[in-house]
Amino acid sequence: MFFEDLRIIDPILKAIENEGYTTATPIQEKAIPVILEGKDLQGFAQTGTGKTAAFAVPMLQLLYKKKETERKNINIKALVLAPTRELAIQIEESFSAYGKYTGIKNTAIFGGVSQKAQVERLKAGIDILVATPGRLLDLVQQKYINLQHIEFLVLDEADRMLDMGLGYDVKRIISKLPKKRQTMLFSATMPKEISKLIASILLNPVKVEVTPVSSTIDTIRQSVYLVEKRNKKHLLTHLLKDKSIESVLVFSRTKHNANKITSDLIKSGIQAQAIHGNKSQNSRQLALSNFKEKKIRVLVATDIAARGIDVEKLSHVINFDLPEVPETYVHRIGRTGRAGEEGMAISFCDEEEKDLLKHIEKTISKSITVIKEHPYTGSSLELSITSSDISKNKDAGKSRNARKSNTNRKDNTNRKDNTNAKDSRSNYFRKSKSKA
Ligand SMILES: Nc1ncnc2c1ncn2[C@@H]1O[C@H](COP(=O)(O)OP(=O)(O)OP(=O)(O)O)[C@@H](O)[C@H]1O
Ligand SMILES: [Mg+2]
Repeated sequence: MFFEDLRIIDPILKAIENEGYTTATPIQEKAIPVILEGKDLQGFAQTGTGKTAAFAVPMLQLLYKKKETERKNINIKALVLAPTRELAIQIEESFSAYGKYTGIKNTAIFGGVSQKAQVERLKAGIDILVATPGRLLDLVQQKYINLQHIEFLVLDEADRMLDMGLGYDVKRIISKLPKKRQTMLFSATMPKEISKLIASILLNPVKVEVTPVSSTIDTIRQSVYLVEKRNKKHLLTHLLKDKSIESVLVFSRTKHNANKITSDLIKSGIQAQAIHGNKSQNSRQLALSNFKEKKIRVLVATDIAARGIDVEKLSHVINFDLPEVPETYVHRIGRTGRAGEEGMAISFCDEEEKDLLKHIEKTISKSITVIKEHPYTGSSLELSITSSDISKNKDAGKSRNARKSNTNRKDNTNRKDNTNAKDSRSNYFRKSKSKA
């Protein structure tokens, strides 16, 4: 469906055309009319399928129409909460791009940097505020922000925003908002425990679910290498010798390990940078922008980069270790295979991680191709994880997708003959021209 058919107004149509979008993605097609009608919404769609524009475009439109009637109103009218600083920045950039011709003002506030410049921008008057919870509460407390005029609330990565880590702060923020507002939640995942919490935040919501929650996109080819822990670093160097891996995001569970992986890669002559919570905000942003601009081929990250981050033409994600929370796997691998592109997700699994692998397969309802033949299989180990062991997981593979054969695949993950992926490639992402 074309954006015109969704009754998007000209100034926004022109801006999304500049971005190269011609047709709306399924989540955009379904969510935009609901939001334009003023209803609360829960929107679930796979990673990289355009959830940002699904909320940003209709919100800009509603605010634009209001502005026509209520001139000179400089209160903050819309609040978008995101779990990480980098994602807050990225969402704000999307609002700026889509809202370029609307005159609507937005800004992002987040921790780790001085608040001075942020406060100056707030004083100048803004319509849409994108924020991480900690800094927002801080500035509310200091009375630089008044939340009394909020009409729209978005929780992007909603399940993360409501979980144990951020839930307390987010609930405090919500308690300060007017009861009468339009609330929208978006994510690619929604664990059951958290979905129960949602009722208290939304009022008669419309639920839009494009694909099963927590499913992974078919254009991402997923594989897992069974490897002893001590050999993971050698396997990583081995794989990265393949120059067809153009841009790769390597995930590590801990900050310490992210540093170690990065220094090991550099010692092996592979240029890499790390991004994690112990780095200064400036170096976090620099590493990410270097990676986005393809100045560096390898970025090693903790899960701060797992959600929402959009890097064009990111060909590979490697899970150096498996995440504890299965939903995190969905988000990590979703950094590749975005906007209709193909992607490759490779995971390393050692003996201790085999239960994590089972949980992941159960969550995504897919079995992951096991690569058993590679130079670091380890003679003593012949890991007790075998493909049949994994297949025994009775819940995995209830998938609508046909199960792929797991047995004795050769080390061929990097092949370009990605026929299955191509077949299932969605064409609503065709862009009229590349992004500026
Ligand atoms: N209608 C469209 N046509 C073409 N490209 C689009 C369209 N909508 C969004 N995109 C592009 O698709 C990419 C992914 O969009 P976005 O980051 O909003 O995905 P998402 O669903 O929020 O993913 P995640 O779950 O990882 O946060 C972006 O590069 C965006 O510019
Ligand atoms: Mg997103």
